[in-house]
Amino acid sequence: MCGIVAYVGPKDAAPILLEGLQRLEYRGYDSAGVVVSNKGLKVRKVKGRVADLAKVVPARFKGSLGIGHTRWATHGVPSDVNAHPHLSADERIAVVHNGIIENAAELRAKLEADGVVFASETDTEVLAHLIAHAADENDTLEEAVRKTLKSVVGTYGIAVIDAERPGEVVVARNGSPIVLGIGEKEMFAASDVAALVRYTRQVVHLEDGELAVLKADGFHTFSSDARETAKEPLTVDWDAGHYDTGGYEHYLLKEISEQPETITRTMSGRLDERFHVAHLGGLNMDARETRGFRRVKIIGCGSAYYSGQIGAQLIEELARIPSDAEPASEFRYRNPVVDPDTLYVAISQSGETYDTLAAVQELKRKGGRVIGIVNAVGSAIAREVDGGIYLHAGPEVSVASTKAFTSTCLAFALLALHLGRVRDLSPADGRRIVEGLRRLPGQIEQVLGQSDRIAELAKKYAPHPSMMFVGRVRGYPVAREGAQKLKEISYVHAEAYPASELKHGPLALIGPDMPTVAIVPDDELLDKNLTTLGEIRARGGQVLMVGHREPDAKLADDVIVIPKNEIELDPILLTIPLQLLAYYAAVALGRDVDKPRNLAKSVTVE
Ligand code: F6R
Repeated sequence: MCGIVAYVGPKDAAPILLEGLQRLEYRGYDSAGVVVSNKGLKVRKVKGRVADLAKVVPARFKGSLGIGHTRWATHGVPSDVNAHPHLSADERIAVVHNGIIENAAELRAKLEADGVVFASETDTEVLAHLIAHAADENDTLEEAVRKTLKSVVGTYGIAVIDAERPGEVVVARNGSPIVLGIGEKEMFAASDVAALVRYTRQVVHLEDGELAVLKADGFHTFSSDARETAKEPLTVDWDAGHYDTGGYEHYLLKEISEQPETITRTMSGRLDERFHVAHLGGLNMDARETRGFRRVKIIGCGSAYYSGQIGAQLIEELARIPSDAEPASEFRYRNPVVDPDTLYVAISQSGETYDTLAAVQELKRKGGRVIGIVNAVGSAIAREVDGGIYLHAGPEVSVASTKAFTSTCLAFALLALHLGRVRDLSPADGRRIVEGLRRLPGQIEQVLGQSDRIAELAKKYAPHPSMMFVGRVRGYPVAREGAQKLKEISYVHAEAYPASELKHGPLALIGPDMPTVAIVPDDELLDKNLTTLGEIRARGGQVLMVGHREPDAKLADDVIVIPKNEIELDPILLTIPLQLLAYYAAVALGRDVDKPRNLAKSVTVE
């Protein structure tokens, strides 16, 4: 949520900042700005995209130290003045900020009482004025920043420069990620490694409460009480190529199409054909501990939460451990009972979602055993948990989650197999699941092969103002994820219900204007699902069915047939056509597929 880039070194900062911001645009894209230091601060900022910013940055915008920002508005509408960087009144200090300063109103009132005139409505501008005051009274910029942050309540990732100290950038983190990039006689910082990988693969993640001072020849990190901290650089696996569209029209289509490979990477080296088990060394748990859990509680937000619902069903089915999923944002606020015999699983593609991170921290505070299912290596949630499973799905750039969703479901299948095989799951069932998992990549390929037809169906259904999605048991979280994808990228209103709940209320909505996407796998609930289709059609509702075969009677207007696997793994394959449906509906309606309105990837605010 919002992107930050900073550079100090021998080169011109502006092109590096603009390139980095372009890579981060998926984190926020309502306005953008840059500032460079060269005998004073030079600023350009605009409402709009990074491409709009690039147009107003002149060729002579020279300076080898600078910071940049792409914004997702929290305080104040998207506008030129509210765009970051924000400057102090004397134009000495410039700040870019991700997160929310909760006591901004109070700080602003005090500053205004002292005669400070604010240029913007943002919470960030208070930081610029406060740091400028502190800079007058302190010897170093780092001290001025540290002192200012002591008076601030809220979350932040910030980068600060001082016109009077043109060789250094100070960055700080509390709840909003900051990563340092180590170059050859140059240093970078960003809110996401995406902005760094073109220049360096050596990175250092700041912890909450840490500050760093970057100069061209290196960096120092400090705790909030000014003690120097020791940091070990990490090598990032992902390179700049992972962040290209690879010839696809949109990142979303690229990421949907990558799923045969991403699924393969998630299971690679983790399946054992001899004993029909999954090896998950990263869990850091011995067999005794693994056998000891009496419940599994899964937390995550949005699509991650829906994949958790699929995960809970997989664990109950294969390991017979009572399991359930809950939105992390609800869990953290309801003072949950933390039970020592429960395994807590936190899911996050980015590893930075603030509500999920806060829930993990609350669990840890109360002695809960927490593992993570995370895509971004070295991210805050990955560092906070006791162990976990990395997805290895590669960076997900499009705002809507697709490949991370299916890889998370796959990771849950591995976890369920692992938990099941040290309990009651038979070798025969273990083998069945291992073989089923191996078949998945080829079967996903087959579903992707139906893209043209799904694009036609998307064109047919997209003009409707609303769509209903229904599924039973394994199909219900699939329906929720299908509705989520459709609404977030095409803005077609979509509701998801358990098919059995339809007649308890939402059936009232069904009619010619409200088609239903029905998830109807060929499982033990097939007949019940077909009855629901009959009820919908009897009310004049159109049905687009996703399942394993055409129904015998004419119960659906259209059917997308997917290959058959083991029933426990159905949700993974059933999800793929719904991703394609949402994608092509968004394209048909002319939407900005990779950057849907009002949203941003990585929700690092509460
Ligand atoms: C939907 C989507 C979001 C994320 C959610 C959690 O397509 O992408 O609902 O799933 O914001 O994000 P992570 O997984 O990064 O914690």
